[in-house]
Amino acid sequence: MPAHTIYLYTCAVTSVHKNALGWYSMISNLFWRPRKTVVPALALLAAFTFPVFAQRSRPEPAWAHAAWMNKSLSADERADLVLKELTLDEKIDLIHGEGMPGWGKPKPNYYLGNGGAGFVLGVDRLGIPIIQMSDAAYGVRSSAMNGRYSTALPSNVGAAASWDPEAACQYGALIGRELRAQGYNMTLGGGVNLTREPRNGRTFEYQGEDPVLAGTLVGNRIKCEQGQHVIGDIKHYAVNDQESGRNEVDAIISKRAMQETDLLAFDIGIRIGDPQAVMCSYNAINGDFACENKYLLTDVLRKQWNFKGFVLSDWGGTHSTIKASAAGLDNEEPQENFYGASYKKAVEDGKIPVAELDEHVHRILRAEFAAGLVDNPVSKSVVDVEGGLDTAQHIEESSIVLLKNSKHLLPLDKHLKTIAIIGDHADMGMISGGGSAQVDPPGTGNPHWLEHVWFPTSPLKTVIAKAPTARVEYASSADVAAAAALAKRSDVAIVYAQQWTSEGMDLPNLSLPDNQDALIAAVAAANPKTIVILETGTAVTMPWLDQVGAVAEAWYGGSRGAEAVANVLFGDVNPSGKLPMTFPKSEADVPHQTVVQPPPHSESASPVMRGEDAKPSFAVHYDEGVKVGYKWYDAEKKPVLFPFGFGLSYTTFSYKDLQVSSGSSTTVTFTITNTGKSAGTEIAEVYAALPAAAEEPPKRLVGFTRVKLAPGESKSVSVAVEPKFLSIFDEAADGFKLVPGSYTFMVGGSSQELPLTKAVNLN
Ligand code: BGC
Repeated sequence: MPAHTIYLYTCAVTSVHKNALGWYSMISNLFWRPRKTVVPALALLAAFTFPVFAQRSRPEPAWAHAAWMNKSLSADERADLVLKELTLDEKIDLIHGEGMPGWGKPKPNYYLGNGGAGFVLGVDRLGIPIIQMSDAAYGVRSSAMNGRYSTALPSNVGAAASWDPEAACQYGALIGRELRAQGYNMTLGGGVNLTREPRNGRTFEYQGEDPVLAGTLVGNRIKCEQGQHVIGDIKHYAVNDQESGRNEVDAIISKRAMQETDLLAFDIGIRIGDPQAVMCSYNAINGDFACENKYLLTDVLRKQWNFKGFVLSDWGGTHSTIKASAAGLDNEEPQENFYGASYKKAVEDGKIPVAELDEHVHRILRAEFAAGLVDNPVSKSVVDVEGGLDTAQHIEESSIVLLKNSKHLLPLDKHLKTIAIIGDHADMGMISGGGSAQVDPPGTGNPHWLEHVWFPTSPLKTVIAKAPTARVEYASSADVAAAAALAKRSDVAIVYAQQWTSEGMDLPNLSLPDNQDALIAAVAAANPKTIVILETGTAVTMPWLDQVGAVAEAWYGGSRGAEAVANVLFGDVNPSGKLPMTFPKSEADVPHQTVVQPPPHSESASPVMRGEDAKPSFAVHYDEGVKVGYKWYDAEKKPVLFPFGFGLSYTTFSYKDLQVSSGSSTTVTFTITNTGKSAGTEIAEVYAALPAAAEEPPKRLVGFTRVKLAPGESKSVSVAVEPKFLSIFDEAADGFKLVPGSYTFMVGGSSQELPLTKAVNLN
């Protein structure tokens, strides 16, 4: 375990299932990877002959012409028709999971699972399929156990740096296709918790610090993922903004702050993506655990947003039966501690009305119809490996953020004589994010929980391929003096620096781990033409920034990360990514000095985690409220290292002619010109400052667009601004309202470089 990470107390139950997928992989290895050739031969024969035989001999099922199979009926109508046919036991089966490999003793039905994080029984006699769920944050998890392959896309926060809804759609569609090819019909992807705490170990799984950007991107991802007939999921609902003590922490936050930040991201994501599932989070919010929080699950999700899908608990995040059910939790995962026998008894005893159970069941059945699971049953097939790699590379190319490029050090000349490649594993791979998001790298099997995993995309090899006549030499990070000596005798030095992060931990600080700051400083002292490529899950501090020539943030680059980076280094791709989160100068500037940790657990202090009176054990007060990310640094007037929305290109852009038309809707129109010598894509950002009476931070993002321009080309672009993005949440009226007054619209290429401004009155 690396010394730079704090391993945090999480409820024992979650760590147990995470640590050991052991028994499962043993069994699946036996079945799926038999050593003797006779077994695979028989399996092959069976695979080819059985479907033919089965097709010929299987009689049409009784439900084939049942009323609910009529596709012209709505998902609600079809769900209701099925509901009427169900016994109490069948209903109870639908509201809980059937276990997860490695999570306690396998349940009797375990053999029906597909090896994913969970599954919910179907109703075979009525044609309702099993819901097979898999984690799929940046690719399908645990495919190696099934003897299969998944593409690793760039991390979610990385892809968010593209500010590209179309890329988000490709991201989701690819995952949807690979899920189905592996026998899954539900994703557990779609994380959108805002970067309220940049040390959060899961920052890489989310979409940055701004609700408009994050919500738009996650919505487009889900829309296209669900378009492949898998149930889409958005998580972790809500305010699950740190991993430390995540099972027992109480997030204390005002309704206004919650509605304008974390919840707004979910709202936008749900409106765009229409996911059929929401995963409630581990933590509590203002006293009630998320999975039994009536305000979140009923008042906001169902009533305010009109969400029609079902809510499933994060793994082990259910704490009660009656309270959770009444609050709006539909499905307990991955087991049935509260939604199995005890739920049935509560119904039989009249403590839970049958109508309440029926509502939960209706939502789950409705989701199966709405996402197309019933009409498009899953059948396993082969993943399009090449297609996946191309998509991963393309998204990474538009996600790399060029942070510094002094004296036009980049792009590099392909005819350089000597190049030094320096860094941990930079000869063979690039790091990936850990936890339940972890995608198995090809060829190495299923990694252990919290193992650092490097994808076989080699920085060294890709640079050699770009500059075939150069002498390209490699030095690891282990010997700083040797690395500096190599840099000194080279034309340029490229340092690949990494920061590993994962679910189940938060970072103690934002420094690069493992003495890499000293390594970079030494290399840059030996050769100022030093280029730093960052492979990080969140922001990092850069004490060496003034000494190096160039810096690019490549995030966790996925299966083709090194190829994408090499294309940017040598100018085959003009970088266009912009930061979806602020990079502060130091941890001292973030809203909370340290990540609040759970109390030591003596008997008397132990949390009451289960049952109808379940209580969290400690609190984090989110007093910064609506001031998340750049809104905090703006309001507190704290200078930052790199602002939200910042990113350089090999060309330059200028902005002019801002017009704002207001009326029933607001549209912002302006002209962008490519003033440089190469073609490039500019992400144009639109911010608004609200009237003083709104009591808001100095500005907020209200829209954005990507514009591709040839050298010298100009384009006029319009960005429509949704009224809600200009509104504030009024707690007394329990709704969003526009504060009448003067709104200043600001347009430019970064939250701190906004050359165009215009004030208009809105009422
Ligand atoms: C994570 C979820 C994940 C689930 C299943 C939980 O610990 O928080 O994001 O989907 O496990 O693996």
